[in-house]
Amino acid sequence: MATREVKSGVYSVGAIDWDREFFDELIPLPDGTSYNAYIIKGTEKTALIDTVDPTKGEDLIKNLKGPGVEKLDYIISNHAEQDHSGTIPKMLDLYPEARVITNEKCKDFLKNLLLIPNERFIVINDGNTLSLGNKTLKFTFTPWVHWPETMVTFLMEDKILFSCDFFGSHLATSSLFAEEGEKLLESAKRYYAEIMMPFRTSIRKNIEKISELEIEMIAPSHGPIYKNPAFIIDAYKEWISDEVKNEVVIPYVSMHGSTEKMVSYFVDLLIQRGITVKPFNLSKNDIGELAMALVDAATVVMATPMVLAGAHPKAVYAAYLANAFRPKTKFISVIGSYGWGGRFIDQLKGLLGNLKAELLEPVVVKGYPDEEDLKALERLANEIVEEHRSIGVM
Ligand code: FEO
Repeated sequence: MATREVKSGVYSVGAIDWDREFFDELIPLPDGTSYNAYIIKGTEKTALIDTVDPTKGEDLIKNLKGPGVEKLDYIISNHAEQDHSGTIPKMLDLYPEARVITNEKCKDFLKNLLLIPNERFIVINDGNTLSLGNKTLKFTFTPWVHWPETMVTFLMEDKILFSCDFFGSHLATSSLFAEEGEKLLESAKRYYAEIMMPFRTSIRKNIEKISELEIEMIAPSHGPIYKNPAFIIDAYKEWISDEVKNEVVIPYVSMHGSTEKMVSYFVDLLIQRGITVKPFNLSKNDIGELAMALVDAATVVMATPMVLAGAHPKAVYAAYLANAFRPKTKFISVIGSYGWGGRFIDQLKGLLGNLKAELLEPVVVKGYPDEEDLKALERLANEIVEEHRSIGVM
C-alpha cells in the first residue's frame, strides 16, 4: 500500500493483506485485512502510531519513505498484539533514537513478546498528553478492547482517534476512507463478533469514556478510516446493547439425515410463526457467519446426532466457540437424534455455561423422526414464540 495523506501532517503508512485467510489460525477472513499504521509529523517531533504484522514489515519500511521520515522520535503502541507491534523491533533498529510510548501493561507484554529492552520505553498514564510541536497526542486507556492493555490515541488538533482494534474491520480495500454500506458493516460486524463480543461490558464503558473526546475521524488499525464516526459508533452501540432480535440460530450437523430432517421441519415451523431463522450447516459454513448471527439472536438451538457417545465433534466445537463469544442469547435448546444411546444434552449445556440463557426443553429422538417427534418440535417452536413474546421481540 502506498503512503497516503489522511490530513495535513498525518499519513497512512500501513499494509494491506489481500490474501490472508485466517486470523489467529481460527477466524476466516473472506475479505483479507489490513494493518494500518500512521505517521504524525509535528513541527518538532515525529510519531508512528502502531506498526504492522511482521510479515508485512517491508511495506511499512517502504511507506515511511513517502512522508520522508528521516528521524522517528516516538512509536506509539496502542496494543501489544503482534499484528500491530510485531514490526516495532525492526523500527527500533532502523531509528535508534526512537522510543516506544505506551502504558505499563503494554510495556510488559512488549518486553515478553518481542524482547524489547527496558530502556527503549517511555511509560505514560491514562489521560497523559505528548507534544509533537504543533500537534498533541492524548492517550486514553480502554482496557479489554480486546486485551487488558488496549488504549487509544487522540490527535487533539485534528480530532482524529487512532483506535487500533477498536472499531476495526477485517477488510482489504484500496479505499483509504470508509464507503458506508452493507459490505463495510458486515466486515465490521464479523470483526466485532469474533474479537470484541466477549467484552461487551468493557466496550460499553469505553465508548462512554471516549465520548468525552470531540472525535471527527476514527482511524482504526484494521480496515478503512471513518470520516463519519457515528456510522461505526452507532453500530457498536446496537451490537453491545442488551436488545436481541426475533431470531433463532441453528448450528447443525447431520450424518445420515435424521437430524437434518428435524432441522428442516423445525426451520419451517419457525418461519410459519414469523421468526427469522438462521440455520448453519457446520460441515459447510464459515464459523464467522455463525459468530455474526450470534450477535443479535434471541435463541440458539444446537442440532446434532449422537456419535462417539456424545454430541458430534463439530457441534461440540460450535458450542465451545459460542460459549467463548459470550453472546447475549436469552434462550437455548438442543435437538437431535441418536441410534443406541449417549448423552449430549448435559454435554452441550455444560459447554454453554457462559451464556446467561434459559434452557428450553430439548427434543431428542431415537432414529428417524416420526409423527410424535415432529409434534415435539412443534411444542418447542411454540415455546420459543411464547418466550420471544415474553421479552417483547415479537
Ligand atoms: Fe489487531 Fe488484537 O490485534
